[in-house]
Amino acid sequence: MRAITVSQPGGPEVLRLDEVEMPVVAADEVLIKVAAAGVNRADLHQRQGRYPPPPGASEIIGLEVSGQIAATGEEVDDWSVGDRCVALLAGGGYAEYVAAPAGQVLEPPPGMDLLTAGGVVEVAATVYSNLERAQLNDGEVFLVHGGAGGIGSFAIQYAKARGATVIATAGSQDKIDFCRSLGADHVISYREDWPGLITERTSGRGVDVILDNMGAKYLDDHVRLLAKDGRLMVIVLQGGSKATLDIAALHSKRGAITATSLRSRPVLQKAAICRSLVGHVWPLFGTGSVQPPSITSYPLAEAAAAHARLESGDNLGKIILVVDPAL
Ligand SMILES: NC(=O)c1ccc[n+]([C@@H]2O[C@H](COP(=O)([O-])OP(=O)(O)OC[C@H]3O[C@@H](n4cnc5c(N)ncnc54)[C@H](OP(=O)(O)O)[C@@H]3O)[C@@H](O)[C@H]2O)c1
Repeated sequence: MRAITVSQPGGPEVLRLDEVEMPVVAADEVLIKVAAAGVNRADLHQRQGRYPPPPGASEIIGLEVSGQIAATGEEVDDWSVGDRCVALLAGGGYAEYVAAPAGQVLEPPPGMDLLTAGGVVEVAATVYSNLERAQLNDGEVFLVHGGAGGIGSFAIQYAKARGATVIATAGSQDKIDFCRSLGADHVISYREDWPGLITERTSGRGVDVILDNMGAKYLDDHVRLLAKDGRLMVIVLQGGSKATLDIAALHSKRGAITATSLRSRPVLQKAAICRSLVGHVWPLFGTGSVQPPSITSYPLAEAAAAHARLESGDNLGKIILVVDPAL
């Protein structure tokens, strides 16, 4: 089969379309003929050699796909050859075929075309699992940075669907406008005094739940911005990993800080999240409370251009690689 390989760690140009071995399907896995593969920021880190796959995962980049079941392992009885599906992966997505644990394979969201569905499950699983863990409640205030990105654009809509007041940040005017179009109640440039503006917009009360993509750089501001009983959910460390925590400030808020990583979770945990997506998130696509992602697509062979686009910071919404548009 054909797949994207990494000739050596480096820039987008190290991505090549190559002939590789077909994946081996374990007893509890299915083989998926890929329609589309989602492109995620983590993929850029893996290409640069800074985010190796977890033990046992495919070396091929790619954390999510949509497609059709091509074969089933002997222990799998809830999927049949020809079924349309999406899958959450630990790797292997940038390829014509990928093997996935059956528990991480889901039906596509209702009414969504199969190519768009290739860019949904990683983001939905990340946001859903974090907001569940944070127990974001109806009427609470939620802050997400990078509201126009893959995670942010889903998080705005999903938090609104849970009844939260949503504050999003973004880095440029077109992204600010995009966040507003997704339903964010307040959108603020992260290039301005965003902590001051959020304090003002919340009348000094602060924010109940923060989905944090920056880590160290924003730690102080985030702790100060938390409302009483506030929860800071760290999902990535774009702003560094080491900072000094003012425990007294956190204590005064009765605050909690949690860091999560989806990729390294055991299969059973990921399977539980996937089941919850079908039960609690996919219906929101059906009713239109959450819109399918805005998609920029590239053919599989142009994975390098897709990475360059994501790296440029100019993209709105999700990027997908189209592997087989005929599925
Ligand atoms: N922990 C996990 O399980 C998990 C799972 C999935 C993803 N992630 C991580 O989540 C992050 C977002 O993923 P994604 O797919 O949404 O990537 P993405 O589309 O590239 O989004 C990155 C976002 O970061 C924002 N940003 C850049 N500089 C910022 C700053 N100084 N302050 C605030 N925001 C800033 C950007 O905003 P502008 O575009 O407006 O500049 C952009 O929207 C990635 O780093 C990814 O690795 C973590």
